[in-house]
Amino acid sequence: MRLGGRPDEGFLKQPHIVFIANPRAGFEHVDKVLDSWVELGYIPKEAKEKLKENIQRGWTDREKAVRKAIRDTALFCMTVMIVARAYGLETHPMEGFDEERLKEFLGVDKDKVIPVMLAIGYKDPQRELLPRAYRFKFEEFGRFL
Ligand SMILES: Cc1cc2nc3c(=O)[nH]c(=O)nc-3n(C[C@H](O)[C@H](O)[C@H](O)COP(=O)(O)O)c2cc1C
Repeated sequence: MRLGGRPDEGFLKQPHIVFIANPRAGFEHVDKVLDSWVELGYIPKEAKEKLKENIQRGWTDREKAVRKAIRDTALFCMTVMIVARAYGLETHPMEGFDEERLKEFLGVDKDKVIPVMLAIGYKDPQRELLPRAYRFKFEEFGRFL
């Protein structure tokens, strides 16, 4: 996650949070998580390596790993949006940007993915928001089984 903004560019005058999905997360972070499981007594020490192998198998296929990383990152973004609201901030998620140029600008590895960035700030009390445009009702896209 990066906070950024270039003062010379209008829309970047306010802070933006850039969410970076890491398709290698399963390889890079698994030890920290599993070591804590061992420490907490969730699993015996001897079970760690086998479990690590199983977890990392799920991250071996690049396409699957990208999907996992994007899913995790998008959920994190949503969480940040909800928490921001609780602190009185407004957010505006965006996916319409040139990902390659943004990665270059921020110095982000090419194999990472930026699924979303978030403009964040306090609403100007002098400004009126436009009325909310059409939103699907639950019945139009979901059903209880
Ligand atoms: C996943 C996602 C991507 C979006 N991408 C952009 C974008 O690239 N540029 C933009 O101006 N608005 C984008 N929007 C729309 C705004 O974030 C916002 O939802 C819209 O202005 C309506 O505001 P409201 O959702 O509070 O009614 C996107 C919304 C979502 C959910």
